[in-house]
This record gives sequence, C-alpha cells and structure tokens, in this order.
Amino acid sequence: MTRVIGISSGKGGVGKTTVAANLGLALRALGKRVLIVDCNLSTPHLGYYLGITDYKRTLNDVLLDRVAADAAVYNHDGLRVMPASLDMADLIGLDLKKFRKTVVKLADPTKFDFVLLDSAPGLGREAVCVLNAADEILFVTNPFVPMLNDVLRSIGIIKQLGHKKVGVVLNMVTGQGHELFEHTVESVLAVPVVGSIPFDSGMAKSLASGVPIIESAPSASASIGFMRLAASLAGVEYTPPSALSALASRIKSRLLELSRVSDIRVPQSREYVEREMFIQEGQRHGDEDESG
Ligand SMILES: Nc1ncnc2c1ncn2[C@@H]1O[C@H](COP(=O)(O)OP(=O)(O)O)[C@@H](O)[C@H]1O
Ligand SMILES: [Mg+2]
Repeated sequence: MTRVIGISSGKGGVGKTTVAANLGLALRALGKRVLIVDCNLSTPHLGYYLGITDYKRTLNDVLLDRVAADAAVYNHDGLRVMPASLDMADLIGLDLKKFRKTVVKLADPTKFDFVLLDSAPGLGREAVCVLNAADEILFVTNPFVPMLNDVLRSIGIIKQLGHKKVGVVLNMVTGQGHELFEHTVESVLAVPVVGSIPFDSGMAKSLASGVPIIESAPSASASIGFMRLAASLAGVEYTPPSALSALASRIKSRLLELSRVSDIRVPQSREYVEREMFIQEGQRHGDEDESG
C-alpha cells in the first residue's frame, strides 16, 4: 500500500518544504519509490528547493482537467515530483474538490511506496485538503513555546478529521536552553515526536543553489536528521556515518565547491573587452572593403 503523508504546519516558514524535499530524497536513498506533490497552490516553492524550474505541467493543470495526473509527474533523478504552477492565472477556476480524488489516483502501489504532500500552512482550504487526503500527518514545528498553541489547535482539527496517524517533526533545533524538549512537546500534545532536525546555517545556501542539503552536505547533522526520520518512517535500520567519514565527506564537498567556484568565468577586464571590440570592428570594415 502506498503511504500518503501530509507535511503540515500551523504557521508558515517552519520548514515544511525543506522537510518534504529532503525527506523525499532520504526515502529514495533507502530504496523507496517516492512522489512529492507541491500542494501549496497559492505560494508554491518545491520546484525551487529541488532545483527544478523548467516544467510545463502542474498540479493546477490536473485540477483544471487539462492533463491526466501522470502527465504532471516529473522524474528528478529517480525522485518523482509534481510541481504547482507559478502562474497566478492557473489559480482561476481551480476545483479543490478534485484534490482528494487526484491524490487517490496518484497513490498507486505499483508505482509509489510514499506520496508526500507539501502543504500550505494553517487551516485554510488548501491546507485542509491535504489533511483530508493524507493517511498520516507529519506536523512540522519549531521548538519554541508560542508554536505549541498553533500545533495544539491544528492537531485538534486533524483528530476530528478521522483516525490519522500524527507525528511531530521538530525543525531548526539548536539545543539551547530556551527551546522545548521533545518529551515536553510529547506530553503537552499527546503525539510522538518522530523527527528532530538541527538548525543548519548551510540550509540557506542549499536553497539558493537548488540542491537540498542532503545532497550537497550528506554528512551535515541536518542531513543525518532527515535520514533518521526517513528510516524510522520506513521501518529500516540506519547507521549514521562515523565522525571520521563525516569529516572526509565534508572535505570532499568543500573541495567540490571550490572546484565549481574556479569554473565560474571571471568577467573580462574593460581593456580586454575594448580590444576585442576594436579587432571585431576592424574585421567588419575589412569584410565591407572586400565586398565593396
Ligand atoms: N533545519 C533548518 N535549519 C536552518 N534553516 C532552515 C531549516 N529548515 C528550514 N530552514 C529555512 O527556513 C526557511 C523556511 O523553510 P521552508 O521549508 O520554506 O518553510 P515552510 O515550507 O514551512 O514555509 C527557508 O529559508 C529554509 O531554508
Ligand atoms: Mg513551503
């Protein structure tokens, strides 16, 4: 059976899309067949996070009955992705009632082990569609006291929607004294904390480059957090890399990064450009003289 997991939150900016992209890649690394659907129709971002920008068919086209669901699924190195449209015009006439049916169609066990639904935040219509369509919910939050109230409200609603398995993912954890402990979250919310992802300053760089941290820095502690989460969801063993191999891998990715930097063409100097233009101009006059 395909497991349909909604990645939800009470508030925006807590890390849902980051979790969706990296968890999808982590599950794929464990040999699972994964589809991630960008269900944040009003502010879609998943494509950027994965470095996929050139796509023509989207979830919007499927909901607008322009294409069949399979036609909007892209293969991204073995990970399957259904983006949402960046064009505001594709929001007009969108029928969210078709969302659940679309997800049911996509959750084909001959094709996928996991379908991850990257949700809009809060409890608006788009977000509730995800809560309705998913069998399990990963509720992403940050370990700060004010967040608990949002999570409590949202989890109350999720529980009213039926018997869904709910787990909390604490993201951007630094371990500082003012942060909530996992066991406090579990006892206040009465749901298990299934993952804890450390804060990583490299996340911004990975977002800018369109390469999720699990690929650009597999030994970073956040990447290991995503692998642990994937392994616990998939029910498989995962042994994190040893400190020594983590160091070797960090050096390797730093060297790779440096070699990429040296590949970048340095803008040519003003004198060089002027000289080139002068030569080209001369050649052009020479050609004109010959033809005339
Ligand atoms: N573990 C983390 N450490 C550091 N920055 C993070 C982490 N997770 C997410 N971020 C950053 O937080 C911002 C919001 O993340 P995003 O995944 O877009 O949240 P959401 O989808 O919930 O709105 C992004 O800039 C992202 O790079
Ligand atoms: Mg998002």
